[in-house]
Amino acid sequence: MSDATPLVHAQGLSRHYKVAQGWLKPKTTVKALDGVSFQLWPQRTLAVVGESGCGKSTLARQLTLIEAPSSGSLQLSGVDVAGADKPALKALRQQVQMVFQNPFASLNPRASIGATLDEPLSLNTLLSPAERRERIEALVAKVGLRAEHLQRYPHMFSGGQRQRIAIARAMMLNPKVVVADEPVSALDVSIQAQILNLFLDLQAEFKTAYVFISHNLSVVEHVADDVMVMYLGRAVEVGPKKTLFARPLHPYTQALMSATPALRAADRRMRIQLQGELPSPLKPPPGCAFHQRCPLAQARCQQEAPQLRPLDGRQVACHVVGSV
Ligand SMILES: Nc1ncnc2c1ncn2[C@@H]1O[C@H](COP(=O)(O)OP(=O)(O)OP(=O)(O)O)[C@@H](O)[C@H]1O
Ligand SMILES: [Mg+2]
Repeated sequence: MSDATPLVHAQGLSRHYKVAQGWLKPKTTVKALDGVSFQLWPQRTLAVVGESGCGKSTLARQLTLIEAPSSGSLQLSGVDVAGADKPALKALRQQVQMVFQNPFASLNPRASIGATLDEPLSLNTLLSPAERRERIEALVAKVGLRAEHLQRYPHMFSGGQRQRIAIARAMMLNPKVVVADEPVSALDVSIQAQILNLFLDLQAEFKTAYVFISHNLSVVEHVADDVMVMYLGRAVEVGPKKTLFARPLHPYTQALMSATPALRAADRRMRIQLQGELPSPLKPPPGCAFHQRCPLAQARCQQEAPQLRPLDGRQVACHVVGSV
């Protein structure tokens, strides 16, 4: 892999689910993820934001190879996942690890922390028990825990400590990419910043790239290099964090930001209120999926779905902004 190859290259990545609507009714399709494209580079963090149900976790499952996309392509370190054979897929799976929202659910309650952290090493490496122990102790120290914690079980830890353990497990095989799906949302606000800083410290040391999923824009502002704002399975605005936070252009991004009063950089004059409910993903509106809630909507927006286009240092999918 050359330096010019991104760690993740998603092109038109889509995942559609067939769901039953009820007795005798035909099945319908949920476009949980609908044509998302981006690149991720070493030691960079792409934050993915958007309301519940917009497809963030579906994207995470595609990137971590838990599920195969319905269409589109995914390359990891230049290797096309769709064309990879079993050994290649095993190698790719080691490169992309996941941290979940709830560390209690993601840790085996009957396994000691030492056993949990040893599992990826004993399954995937030829290291001796002594070498594995050395690696585990080194990583446990880096995530802020002590060697004596290794004999203990998940219920003996606080939520923040459990998330540290889950992060250590994700880092055990030195992955190139960690996909973190709302990793601090279940934690007390007082310890969220510590865990975010742990992510940043580990990234600086191991050059890991993150896909960091969060609905909390203050969290995103703290960790992201780039931001992708999603709405009903599609990206509506993508670009460098500084650019988006200094001057969000998509009316949906503006609405999300004006709903987060703690944001320092956001334009204080902006007061866009989100109107109405998020539409059902089973019945997305025609045209721009956001048009029913959009203060700028015009006739065209009801018919034609806008594509991402470059505008003012980022990409934005809106017919109206920048066109006047
Ligand atoms: N296995 C599945 N079968 C059918 N529909 C699904 C499945 N997984 C997700 N969906 C639907 O796809 C859409 C996107 O779901 P997803 O969980 O990716 O959203 P999300 O952005 O992670 O939401 P949240 O912020 O609540 O975690 C939702 O409408 C959801 O109901
Ligand atoms: Mg989710």
